[in-house]
Amino acid sequence: MQNRYAKLAAWVYNLDKPVGRSFGDIEYYRMRLAACPRGPILEPAVGNGRMLVPLLKDGFPVEGFDASRQMLDYCIEECSQRRLATDLKLGTFEGFTTEKRYAAIIIPAGSFQLITDTVAAMAVLRRFHEHLLPNGRLILDIDPINGFLGERVCVRSWTPADAELLTLTDTPVETDHIAQTSLSHLRYDHWRNGELIASELDLFKLRWWGINELTLALQAAGFADMVVSGGYVHGRAPTKHDEAITIEACRSAKP
Ligand SMILES: C[S@@+](CC[C@H](N)C(=O)[O-])C[C@H]1O[C@@H](n2cnc3c(N)ncnc32)[C@H](O)[C@@H]1O
Repeated sequence: MQNRYAKLAAWVYNLDKPVGRSFGDIEYYRMRLAACPRGPILEPAVGNGRMLVPLLKDGFPVEGFDASRQMLDYCIEECSQRRLATDLKLGTFEGFTTEKRYAAIIIPAGSFQLITDTVAAMAVLRRFHEHLLPNGRLILDIDPINGFLGERVCVRSWTPADAELLTLTDTPVETDHIAQTSLSHLRYDHWRNGELIASELDLFKLRWWGINELTLALQAAGFADMVVSGGYVHGRAPTKHDEAITIEACRSAKP
């Protein structure tokens, strides 16, 4: 099992990246969606609703799915607290299918890189293309390759309440330069008054994409009119200093 986002992982994600926490991406996606044809929007791997909730509040008809029950439960709770109605389902990139067609499909936060098998990733791109309305857009983020090549163990912590501590120890395990994947062990520990209450291990695997490689993959999946942007500045070609790269691709107007 990899990329599970189970109980402690989802708790940490929700503390670290709560609803509305932006890296410049929420404003960027809002601006790009305003320029899209009107219609339903899908956010695969919606997580805790970090981006979906602000978009819903702004009136964008966004729905989502996620492979993690625990992440989805945070999202459902955040929506219900704000009386925001939308369709949120348990589901995976790989298994996604519906009769519905979307004006836009958005995949922020590098989640597309969680699909580590190239053949599966190509099938997902083709499926997203099929599920877009004519002129519909796919907008997704990828991380620059240098983000995948760290070799140091990293420890972070959060204090959710008095006497409570959550720690995350990220240990790089393997980088496969042929498969373009990196594997880390993410160990989550929940401590109370210095005693260990619970632990969880996630095998966290990501695939990195070259910009041209992903552009060609999108073309092969049927997309056209790709715009690649760096640092959430639309149309500005990415540079080596950018921490986020966004690709927007269009389904042709012809059926
Ligand atoms: C980095 S979080 C992104 C959450 C949200 N989109 C955001 O922008 O904050 C990645 C999400 O992908 C989900 N995920 C992982 N593998 C998945 C898969 N194969 N299919 C669908 N969702 C998946 C995880 O459960 C997690 O909620």
